[in-house]
This record gives sequence, C-alpha cells and structure tokens, in this order.
Amino acid sequence: MKLNISGAKFSAIVKISEDLREQSRISGKEFLYLNRGINQVKNIDLSEIIPLIDFNSDAVQYYAHSKGMLPLRKAINNEFFKNKTSDENIYITAGGMHALSLVFQTLAVQKIYSASFYWGAYTNALKIAGKEQCFYNKFEDIINNPDTYQNSAVIICDPNNPTGEKAEETLLIETLNILHQKNITVIWDGPYRRLFYDHSDELYQKLLNHDNVIITESFSKSVGLSGQRVGFMHSINQAFNDEFAIRLLYSGNGINAFGQILVEKLLTSPEGIKATTAFKNKTVEDIKANIKLLKDKNLLPKEFYGNTVPIGIFVIVNKSFDELKAMNIGSVPLSYFTKRTDINPEKYSRICVSVPQEKFKAFFK
Ligand SMILES: Cc1ncc(COP(=O)(O)O)c(C=O)c1O
Repeated sequence: MKLNISGAKFSAIVKISEDLREQSRISGKEFLYLNRGINQVKNIDLSEIIPLIDFNSDAVQYYAHSKGMLPLRKAINNEFFKNKTSDENIYITAGGMHALSLVFQTLAVQKIYSASFYWGAYTNALKIAGKEQCFYNKFEDIINNPDTYQNSAVIICDPNNPTGEKAEETLLIETLNILHQKNITVIWDGPYRRLFYDHSDELYQKLLNHDNVIITESFSKSVGLSGQRVGFMHSINQAFNDEFAIRLLYSGNGINAFGQILVEKLLTSPEGIKATTAFKNKTVEDIKANIKLLKDKNLLPKEFYGNTVPIGIFVIVNKSFDELKAMNIGSVPLSYFTKRTDINPEKYSRICVSVPQEKFKAFFK
C-alpha cells in the first residue's frame, strides 16, 4: 500500500496526560492536571437546556445542511456580529481544529505565520496541508515590517495559547488594519476570547469590512463544550467561501445536529443565556484568583510578562515540568509550544489556570 505520509504527529500532550495518570495510580497520590487545555472550574449546567430539545424531531434525527443549521448560523450572526453579516458567510464546523485545517488546505499560500509561542496543533495541521510554518515574535514586528508577510497568511491567536497574554485592543486593531491595507490574509483564531467577553464585544463586527480576514471560532472554550465539536468559520470573501463549502461538505457531510441545536439554544434561549453567563462568570473568577496567586508567589516569569499580567486560560510558569510533577502538578514543557532558541524552554511550563481556586491553592501552597 502506497501512502501519503504527512509527517504530522499525534499530540504529545495526550501522552503526557496518560503518563501522569499512570504516575498518580502507582503513587496513590492525587494530581492536579494543569496539562489539560479545557476549562475545569465547573461544567456548564445544561439541565434547563436539555428539556428544550425535541430528540424525536427531524431536526435532530436527519442530516443537517452541510453549511450548518440555519438557526445556529443566525444565532452566531446575532451573538458575534450583531446581525451585521450575512448568515451565508458563516459555516459550522466540527470545532476550531476542523475549521483551521480546511482553511489551511484552501489557501494557496506557501507560508503561514503564527506567533512564536503557538498552539502545537498548528504545526501538524500545516504539515498535512503542505504549508511552511513561520513565526513573528510580537505584533509590533508585523506593524513595522508588514511586507515580510506578503503572499503569506498570518494567524492571530489572542488571548494566546500558551502564554495567556491578551494584547491591547488598539494594538490588535492596528495590526489588523495594516494587514488589511496590504491585503495579507489573516486567520483570526481566538477561541479563548469569548470566555472573557459577551455579545457586547465589537471586535468581530469591526472585522466585517476586512475581506482579508478569515475567522475560525469554537464553542469548546467559551461555553466549555469541547465534547460537542461545534465551531464555525466566517469570511466575506465569496471565492474563498465557495471552495471552503465544498471541502466542508466532503470532509464530513455536515456536523452533528444535536450539538448544533444545543449551542443554538445556549445562544438564544433565556435558560441558555443564564447557563452560559453563570459558566463564564465562575470560570473567569477562579482563573483570576489563580493567576493572582501565581503572581504573588513570583511564579510568573518576568522575562515573558514584564509587569503585565496574563488573563489565561493558560500561563507560563518559571518551573519545569519535572519540578511541577514532583509537586503532583501536571503541566506541559514550554518546548512543546515554541522553536525559539533565545530562551531555554525546558526551564518553563505551560499550565492551565482554569481550575477551581481552592484546589489550585491547595496544590500551590
Ligand atoms: C489556539 C487554539 N485554536 C483552536 C483550538 C481548537 O479547539 P477545538 O477544535 O476544540 O474547537 C484550540 C484548542 O485547544 C486552540 O488552543
């Protein structure tokens, strides 16, 4: 059998999780799994939403439209764009990863730039799409030398995974405006943003006159439903959308109907809005408290953050994977998220700070 070997690898973070669980089993000690990339403060309470869904309906049981169910696309238009875009510009995907890999495949560029601290899955999805991954260190690099990025695409992930840093909105807008003026394609991949913002956030509306911007979004983080695999892609470039729609159809024949209806109810029903608000408020409250504790204990490296404070849901700490493991805390070495050589990534780790504050405090005591 002849194969197209991509060279992409399975997520090494999964292996770390398995090893830590085994370690916990052998030692009989409880571990705090901060290696995970999910909000673990609390689960969203769906008990008032489930009765709103008719499982015997055609909508749940039959194929959904391959672009996604119209009520969900309308709900997304309202929630993210204040109804200022067309429902036709929104495509439901099986989470952000699915959207990103279809975007990477569809764009005819050789190089795709990400921040030099980046989500490791970009590397693998780009490999499968046959693209070269390149890096920028900070948004000022783009502002000062935009022509470097000509004929390429630029991924912006803010708040960032793995650093948890949130750029000033004015800096983001300036970066986006310059890339727009230069007609350089932007992939706006910010699945953590809407955990910290509600529908009054205007950024997505501001992007609506930027025909160079492709948004990939996800409900994995902002409402904690990573298991449902629901996200979306938005673009106003018709030619891009036409090709994306074809690839979306033939990559999965539509997205799970139940997950789509669930997210739609979360975005539109009073019960859904109540559950979402409670989930976000409690999650953000505990994230803030956990980051404050790390700052008070001088665990946030100054060489990364200076005097600024990250917002999460991840942060970099100045302890190695092994040092944290010795305290029964799971983390991921920073080397999984960067190829930079001007720092020693083995000295640092990425931890998820979206866990209950009492538990976090107990382990960091
Ligand atoms: C930066 C970034 N983008 C996109 C995603 C995609 O998440 P999902 O495929 O669960 O929607 C993740 C998940 O960890 C992420 O960290």
